[in-house]
Amino acid sequence: MAHKMITVISREDIARRVAELGEEITAHYHGQPLVVVCVLKGAFLFYADLVRHIRTPMEMDFVRLSSYGSGTSRGRQAVFTKDMEVDVDGKHVLLVEDIVDTGRSAEFLLHVLEKRGAASLKICSFVDKSERREVSLKVDFAGFPIQKGFIVGYGMDYAEQYRELDAVYELVPE
Ligand code: PRP
Repeated sequence: MAHKMITVISREDIARRVAELGEEITAHYHGQPLVVVCVLKGAFLFYADLVRHIRTPMEMDFVRLSSYGSGTSRGRQAVFTKDMEVDVDGKHVLLVEDIVDTGRSAEFLLHVLEKRGAASLKICSFVDKSERREVSLKVDFAGFPIQKGFIVGYGMDYAEQYRELDAVYELVPE
């Protein structure tokens, strides 16, 4: 099906907001060491930009999840297809997502990292799609609230396309 693409977040707005988020995160941790976790693939561009605006000692790590199960997202189970390598026991951990939608991916990660002994756990998400939330979960550092629409660009894909775009677009069927 053909789609048109409508800009919903410009490159300039992304740059401004990512810098602000970096300031908020820097102020929150005030110099404490932090493990910053990139949830692949969608967060890769946001993560790369964000870490350059956080001023605290950091360890970096990457995870990738997939979910299995049938039908709707409800009841799906998340599993690691790439687990972490850094030991989080006793450390402050910041999860970096491109989008928190139902919240199930983030909930899974919070649960696992809590069991592994993280001293604290926070979530930073470029987009917070809170109206579709299926679990009780708060995004601590949210870039942009978005209510609806299928968005691509700045890491986010449609069938693995459009991740490389430096702005965010809504895909609208023509
Ligand atoms: C997306 C996104 C989040 C998750 C959010 O990942 O990157 O990790 O979905 O959805 P949820 O809140 O409903 O769990 P996706 O599985 O599309 O993989 P990708 O990042 O590799 O595109």
